[in-house]
Amino acid sequence: MPRTLITSAIPYINGIKHLGNLIGSQLPADLHARYLRARGHEVMFICATDEHGTPAELAAAKAGKPVADYCAEMWQVQKDLADGFRLSFDHFGRSSSAQNHRLTQHFAARLDAAGLIEERSSRQVYSNADGRFLPDRYIEGICPNCGFEDARGDQCDNCTKQLDPTDLIEPRSTISGSTDLEVRETKHLYLKQSQLKDRLDAWIDSQDGWPVLTTSIAKKWLHDGDGLQDRGITRDLDWGIPVQKGDEPWPGMEGKVFYVWFDAPIEYIAGTAEWADANGGDWERWWRTDKGAEDVRYVQFMGKDNVPFHTLSFPATLLGSGEPWKTVDYLKSFNYLNYDGGQFSTSRGRGVFMDQALDILPADYWRWWLLSHVPESSDTEFTWENFQASVNKDLADVLGNFVSRVTKFCRAKFGEVVPEGGTWGAPEAALIETLTTRLAAYERHMDAIEIRKAAQELRAIWVAGNEYLQEAAPWTVHKTDPQQAAAQIRLALNLIRLYAVLSQPFIPDASAAMLAAMDTQDDSWPEGIEAALNVLPAGHGFAVPEVLFAKITDDQREEWAARFAGTRS
Ligand code: MF3
Ligand code: ZN
Repeated sequence: MPRTLITSAIPYINGIKHLGNLIGSQLPADLHARYLRARGHEVMFICATDEHGTPAELAAAKAGKPVADYCAEMWQVQKDLADGFRLSFDHFGRSSSAQNHRLTQHFAARLDAAGLIEERSSRQVYSNADGRFLPDRYIEGICPNCGFEDARGDQCDNCTKQLDPTDLIEPRSTISGSTDLEVRETKHLYLKQSQLKDRLDAWIDSQDGWPVLTTSIAKKWLHDGDGLQDRGITRDLDWGIPVQKGDEPWPGMEGKVFYVWFDAPIEYIAGTAEWADANGGDWERWWRTDKGAEDVRYVQFMGKDNVPFHTLSFPATLLGSGEPWKTVDYLKSFNYLNYDGGQFSTSRGRGVFMDQALDILPADYWRWWLLSHVPESSDTEFTWENFQASVNKDLADVLGNFVSRVTKFCRAKFGEVVPEGGTWGAPEAALIETLTTRLAAYERHMDAIEIRKAAQELRAIWVAGNEYLQEAAPWTVHKTDPQQAAAQIRLALNLIRLYAVLSQPFIPDASAAMLAAMDTQDDSWPEGIEAALNVLPAGHGFAVPEVLFAKITDDQREEWAARFAGTRS
């Protein structure tokens, strides 16, 4: 059985994610996981919350909670929303887990043993009132260049000049507002990525058929400007994974933690270990090529801003360790989804967030729109008009209407059983031929993770059923030749089951409802269209389902557009 490891970039813990975040990694990863399971692969699908770093600490402080409590609560919130969207993770972990502490400290020790870690001193701003070193962007002051009052320690947003925190006039802490700041000497660990440049370059060149977006970003970072910089992998913070060499203390590094971007990708591995600890499984056969992972295909999903970390930093950790870790085989990255003429904005509450989306409509409506408009080759935009049109046409008119027409007509004329009699002729053969071609294309696009093309093909498969029904016109045929109408409806009822199977990766709830209505648990992927259209035999009972998809009215659309324009409190 083929084995596929799938990871989605792990969302930051601080706050509920918006639909742009969701379509940027977790949802497409889920589509792939569901598809491959349906095709009989053994799948390990891992996601988690990314819990360390200053933003997590500050969000906890704002919520008035200890950071560990805050993270535990927000993990549950994100987990529930993931369930609500039917994200089928085998495990949804936490980067703060014991497993990740152990693995992160292990990798640091190995990199050190390989001579890839160096200690460097630097001068950083310390806030006496906050009792901590301040990351550059948490220091603000007057820009020495243009006089702008709220310039950040790393850059002035007004004149765009790159700044050093010590350049600022009258610097203050954005955490407390305190101006009691001083510059202190502090030591940090650096990962000497520059020494790995050639190995990374060769590793990227050896990858087959990666998307252009992925390789172009990786190559740019590898070769442009200063090339691959050595990277500080520790921070002066309280919350995080303590800097240790494996189980041993790291002299001089007491009280420091690893940088969030060092430990976050390691959580992909640790998350699998969490899964194994909870389920009694073996995680090494997914991750260690000396322990069975050599025949695993590893696919990663992420937004384009995450690509450098996954093509350079994380591989540097894995390759630099000198141990036989599994590295990514295919990296699928995405552009951005914009919201109604602008950007989604977490700080300004602009756009639809995961909790709000599920408050107004079931998951499948969102899944279908997002996946069929996924920003694959360029940035795309969510508009309410487009969302309404796509739900009403694709889901309600094409798919939903097919299911309702067929089941209701059958109930009226033959009762709630698959009718007997009649034979298939030329129109049915033509349909089978069309569907055979389209199914092959659908599988090809799904295999290649060409999501938009796959969605188009799936829609075309739904349309083909409608067109068949339109031409066959069983409601007319029934008046003169009930046997023939029975044969047509038998095919159409089987088509509903087939649609449930093929649509499941996109719209799992509707698929489940269709299978339930057809009173079958046979959700096996079709070996051939003709066989698939004979699964439900004459005499098999079914029920007319509830309306699968309700149309979005103009009033709803207008109300929602106003509600999500940017006032989330
Ligand atoms: N939390 C990061 C983001 O949302 C993604 C981390 S992905 C991982 O941009 F590789 F670090 F795990
Ligand atoms: Zn300025």
